[in-house]
Amino acid sequence: MTTLRLEDLKQYSDVVRTRQGEALNVRFVEPRDTDELQHYFRSLSTRSRYNRFFGAISELPYGLLRDFLQVGERERFTVIATKMVDGFETIVAEARYALHAETSTLEFGLSVNDRWQGHGIATALMKNLECRAAALGAEHMVGDTLRSNEPMISLARKSGFAFVNHPDDWKLVRFDKEIHVAPKDIPCASWRLAALSRQADSPSASV
Ligand SMILES: CC(C)(COP(=O)(O)OP(=O)(O)OC[C@H]1O[C@@H](n2cnc3c(N)ncnc32)[C@H](O)[C@@H]1OP(=O)(O)O)[C@@H](O)C(=O)NCCC(=O)NCCS
Repeated sequence: MTTLRLEDLKQYSDVVRTRQGEALNVRFVEPRDTDELQHYFRSLSTRSRYNRFFGAISELPYGLLRDFLQVGERERFTVIATKMVDGFETIVAEARYALHAETSTLEFGLSVNDRWQGHGIATALMKNLECRAAALGAEHMVGDTLRSNEPMISLARKSGFAFVNHPDDWKLVRFDKEIHVAPKDIPCASWRLAALSRQADSPSASV
């Protein structure tokens, strides 16, 4: 499996749409987003934060905040979905994903601002993550969620994931989906191009 060049990451941003058709920009987080990202997590409801991090936190602890901002380090990436509110680019959702090359798996977690939940944003963001998984050559997408998290379980089921018991923690359930998308068929234009150029650069990746 080959990966995308870190110096290229800045160019990748996508437009996804809410169920009502409103456009959101999805892009990698940048150092300039530090305060807004922390504000986003502080503004989530207690329940949403608990469901996202499987524990009670009021904000991102410093170490985790630093990890969120280190895009590409150890094949871990953070993306944010933003919209303009009163002239400010505001984060309405985030996702973090890690590529585990040894198992060809992309693991992810995500959240949507409580005010924006129920608008199809997580559905759209997960489709975008599938493009990224396919572009990175992942064969599976997986995530963990609390057994009590009905919205996430329902979302994963509707998005075509299957469920297995978590190997280490009975409170969690793991959802898993096989990714079978050839580079030319990746539905997100920027990731299709990235995958095709990666394929062209690396003849062994196409066999
Ligand atoms: C789970 C979460 C990401 C869903 O985001 P969302 O943008 O509201 O989801 P969508 O609008 O795309 O909804 C898609 C499906 O999810 C399910 N869903 C979403 N909210 C739900 C709710 N409150 N109750 C039950 N099911 C729900 C439904 O099946 C829904 O399909 P429908 O609209 O046809 O009924 C969001 O609730 C969230 O951020 N929760 C806190 C963080 C979290 O739990 N993260 C998951 C751990 S990784």
